[in-house]
Amino acid sequence: MSLLYQGFFCIIAAIVTAEAWQPSPTNIPWAFPLAFRGTLPTHRPTAVRFNDTSFTAYRDASRRIVVHSDVCPHMGARLSHGWISCRGTLHCPYHGFEFDGGRFVPHVHTDASSRKGKAVQLPVLPVAQRGGVEWLLSSPVDDPLAWMEPFLPPEHDDPGFRAIEGTVIVDTCADRLVENLLDMVHISFVHSFGNVKSLPLHVHYEALNSTSGRTTFVYTPNVNTISRRLGRVTSVTVENEFHLPTTTITRVKAGTTVKTVWTTTRPTDRGRCQLFWRVYRNFWIDPHFTGSSAIGDALLRWLMERTIREDQGILAIVDPTQPDDAPVLRTIYDVTILKYRQARRRWGLHWS
Ligand code: FES
Ligand SMILES: [Fe+2]
Repeated sequence: MSLLYQGFFCIIAAIVTAEAWQPSPTNIPWAFPLAFRGTLPTHRPTAVRFNDTSFTAYRDASRRIVVHSDVCPHMGARLSHGWISCRGTLHCPYHGFEFDGGRFVPHVHTDASSRKGKAVQLPVLPVAQRGGVEWLLSSPVDDPLAWMEPFLPPEHDDPGFRAIEGTVIVDTCADRLVENLLDMVHISFVHSFGNVKSLPLHVHYEALNSTSGRTTFVYTPNVNTISRRLGRVTSVTVENEFHLPTTTITRVKAGTTVKTVWTTTRPTDRGRCQLFWRVYRNFWIDPHFTGSSAIGDALLRWLMERTIREDQGILAIVDPTQPDDAPVLRTIYDVTILKYRQARRRWGLHWS
């Protein structure tokens, strides 16, 4: 059973025994992206898929985001099709049963004020906000992110950088998508900014800690790229990092020009996931005329969306059933992927 499933089932037990909870490799509150801050609808519940399971997300009376099972324990209706009351409780669309933070609220018409009915509590996933993202946590704790923070790059707090962001559903499992983002050779063959005549040079891997690692290499992109035209260099230095469970960094340095792509992924269904991305840049920023910066934003968004489409195209023809440890045809250029797989295995992380 995967860590996420174990974490999910231990939620109910932890409601009773929260004080006894201690971090361990099997109940770490890993953080997965739920939504960019401010993007969840405020007046209606939203359906959320996480690890092949249905949840619903909404804001309670104190505007706090609540995420719990989407399946009504009465007759199984999808609660995300229901409505939110002025008290911030959620009503099922089928027979109107009310839930407060996932706990059943008995009413006369629901005829379920027995002791058993009052005790009904839907499985809840904790949510925490960091770096402009609402994160879903795979285990319950009082202050979960104090222990396992999602990784944000230093560019996030650097006033010299400007960022754009977006999200997209990708039809492959989260493992394969993250590995694609750590794959240095596919750039030459899959991407329009790649250069088929160039392989990565000076490839160097270093472990950052037990949950993350970085590969640095030098690459010669094709002549039409931002690095060649704006950075005016013939080669760039690339830092490619993974941070468990699903965060990646691709930092491209061309002279003083730096472009950093940060991604994080939520496994949604078997063979499907949701990618959240943000691109930080220290160029095309005009402090006096925001219109210029907005043009830079639009151009970079167009480039990023094209890059993602190219990745989606190749991932559509990758066999997702190939085992992680198939011992054939590995090269030094696969080092980041292999280290990511190793780290994932060490922490028992796997999604299908
Ligand atoms: S199915 Fe939800 S109240 Fe009946
Ligand atoms: Fe790619």
